[in-house]
Amino acid sequence: MKYFLDSAKIDEIRYAYENWAIDGVTTNPRHIMNSGKPFLTVLDELGSEFRGVEGFPISVEINPHLNDAREMVKEGKKIAALSSNFVIKIPCIEPGLIAAKELENEGIRTNVTLVFSPSQALQPARIGSKFVSPFVGWKENSGEDTGQYIQDIVDIYKAYNYDTEVIVAALRNGKQIVDAAKSGAHIVTCGFEVYQNSFQHAFTDYGLNVFRNAWDNTLTEVTVGK
Ligand code: E4P
Repeated sequence: MKYFLDSAKIDEIRYAYENWAIDGVTTNPRHIMNSGKPFLTVLDELGSEFRGVEGFPISVEINPHLNDAREMVKEGKKIAALSSNFVIKIPCIEPGLIAAKELENEGIRTNVTLVFSPSQALQPARIGSKFVSPFVGWKENSGEDTGQYIQDIVDIYKAYNYDTEVIVAALRNGKQIVDAAKSGAHIVTCGFEVYQNSFQHAFTDYGLNVFRNAWDNTLTEVTVGK
């Protein structure tokens, strides 16, 4: 399973790339805002950081106010021209799907985002989007169970041999990462702390203390003659 980092903060992206071998990055307007930097500055940093790193996708979302396919395509092309790593993230609304089809036809890779149902996930696959991003956390916050919905998307894609890769997004904990892995989804995208937490377990810390204590209290060897 591939791990993408859901962030626009260059320091944590660099750290996760160098130390955790993350396979890609996803950003969104909220992450860009949280980086505290202007949109183009963030894009410039990301483009420079991964220049020459082939096959490392960085999803960049178009202006969410756009509601016209032609305008979306225009903006997508501008963003894509800044770095060969950039994948154009487009909301799953009808003009967005038209724009994604046009961009894919022109060789610009897309990630259809804000997907909340299997029916929404079908069209991005039919038009050959590189990625689709069904969200988990937002639905679970409203009390919905998301296991079946992600499984349905993965099963439908397998049944029709669609090439679109499923990025299970907006994950909040290790259990949701595992659920995504069990469904057979290609990728998860999570925030920095979600991954950090998923690497840990209270029993690991407890066990480490037990072993440290044992190490410190092990009899030391006495050298003959001393
Ligand atoms: C996914 O591609 C999105 O960037 C992301 O997961 C959005 O949700 P969040 O910011 O609430 O995690």
